[in-house]
Amino acid sequence: MHPQRTAIIGGNWKMNTDRASGLALAGSIARGVQELHNAGKRVEVAVFPPFVYLPLISEALCAASSRVMLGAQDVYHAERGAFTGEISVLQLQDVGVGTVLAGHSERRHVIHEGDDQINLKVRAILHHGLRCVLCVGEKLEQRETDQTNTVNERQVRLGLRDVRPDELDRLVIAYEPVWAIGTGKVASPEDAQDAHRHIRAVLADLFGKDAAAGVRIQYGGSVTAANAAELLKQPDIDGALVGGASLKEADFMAIVRAAAQ
Ligand code: 13P
Repeated sequence: MHPQRTAIIGGNWKMNTDRASGLALAGSIARGVQELHNAGKRVEVAVFPPFVYLPLISEALCAASSRVMLGAQDVYHAERGAFTGEISVLQLQDVGVGTVLAGHSERRHVIHEGDDQINLKVRAILHHGLRCVLCVGEKLEQRETDQTNTVNERQVRLGLRDVRPDELDRLVIAYEPVWAIGTGKVASPEDAQDAHRHIRAVLADLFGKDAAAGVRIQYGGSVTAANAAELLKQPDIDGALVGGASLKEADFMAIVRAAAQ
């Protein structure tokens, strides 16, 4: 983590939680983050509940005047219209969402979203002034055949096509190797750093070195309270996108505390 960048931790709840457990989780995270801020610590935190609970969690975070940002796990790129089952950026904004994931590995590989569709989402999110977390990462067979950097580079370049330099302050990249997601197999800090350094080099090629230095790159994939600190020590790892461990308040807050500067 570079001191010039504020660490950012996201809790991606995926298709987990219900009304009661989501509310309880959001409430305790809001209290934990408030305590850190009261102690003068600097860290950004976002939670990504399932779509149907967004208004509920939004109201709970607002009622607590929380600094925790509300995130959505996905979005459709069009503003409105005949797109059954989809949700637009405007609708997300309307219920208090400030940050949106695009291209999560489960959307790419389970729902089969392609880079062009992901790029449309990235542009729609940034166009409407929200923060976008573009997720990239290689599959196991790609890692084993030395394609990690090539895959990440392609996903970053295609995902960010036609993104303007003035939108970069709202962009976060999440490097999530597919083989590490939900498997308990975390990338070594060195391997993760190597991938992050390469992603930052691609950003520098696209937008210039200074702009690239300002973009935060999160690591995701089996992050736990036990391994977060070592990962976050790496110079190009600016935070974490957490799945399983984000569903337990104590585990998630331990990761947030490890990131607080
Ligand atoms: P896990 O932390 O459960 O491996 O999930 C990571 C992830 O996909 C976060 O978006």
